[in-house]
Amino acid sequence: MAEGVKGIIFLGPPGAGKGTQAKKVAHFLNYSFISTGDILREEVSKKTELGALAKKYMEKGELVPDDVMLKIIEKKLKYNKKGFILDGFPRTLQQAEGLDSIFRKNNISIEKVFCLSVSEEEIIKRLSSRRVCPGCKRIYNLITDPPEKNEKCDVCNVELIKRSDDKEDVIRKRLEVYKKDTELLLNYYREKIIDIEGNGSSEEIFEKIKKFFK
Ligand code: AP5
Repeated sequence: MAEGVKGIIFLGPPGAGKGTQAKKVAHFLNYSFISTGDILREEVSKKTELGALAKKYMEKGELVPDDVMLKIIEKKLKYNKKGFILDGFPRTLQQAEGLDSIFRKNNISIEKVFCLSVSEEEIIKRLSSRRVCPGCKRIYNLITDPPEKNEKCDVCNVELIKRSDDKEDVIRKRLEVYKKDTELLLNYYREKIIDIEGNGSSEEIFEKIKKFFK
């Protein structure tokens, strides 16, 4: 691990646009993009032992246990040599405390913590029409950001998929879990947090975020 690496954290409820914005920021700053959701979905699709364990929680909209998540992040950060963005981690107080200890061990500091907020009604709308490329993982939205060809990735030309946890009952459970476990982190990071109102086009939101890097 290089000395003095910095990390940016993205918080916010499911569907607030964390993945969309975190990817844009990573590209803009030339940082690594680390999404725990993507890591877990990859394990599920490869049918690994971790994937089998994660699937049980993910399909119900529940959180994968903290000790499992902390091991994944520790391993990922050990080999990371540049600035990075965390999308979807931490999600509980235990994860945030564990992350602090990983940061101390590896001389990493938190550069910024963004929190995106969007109304519940908008979240359901966004997630019900989200589609993802199984190849390059690009995120689309059939209403606000559709692919050029009918449900095929503009880059890979493969059929887009709907995430199995983007069903209304699972979305509601994920929102409940966010309120119960993850909202506590808004207080934990209160001195660093930058609130971003997430309504508006993804370009408009990105412009708001970019201002914090000038
Ligand atoms: P994860 O993949 O992290 O899902 P999430 O947190 O529920 O967040 P989403 O990916 O659903 O939403 P997002 O905010 O990234 O929105 P996006 O940019 O895609 O986690 C999935 C599961 O894995 C968890 O439930 C849990 O089981 C497990 N897990 C993951 N991390 C874990 C951890 N740390 N601990 C324990 N378990 C963990 O945008 C959504 C849609 O809206 C897209 O279609 C997009 O195109 C569209 N959109 C984005 N921005 C805009 C905009 N401004 N206007 C209109 N549409 C927009």
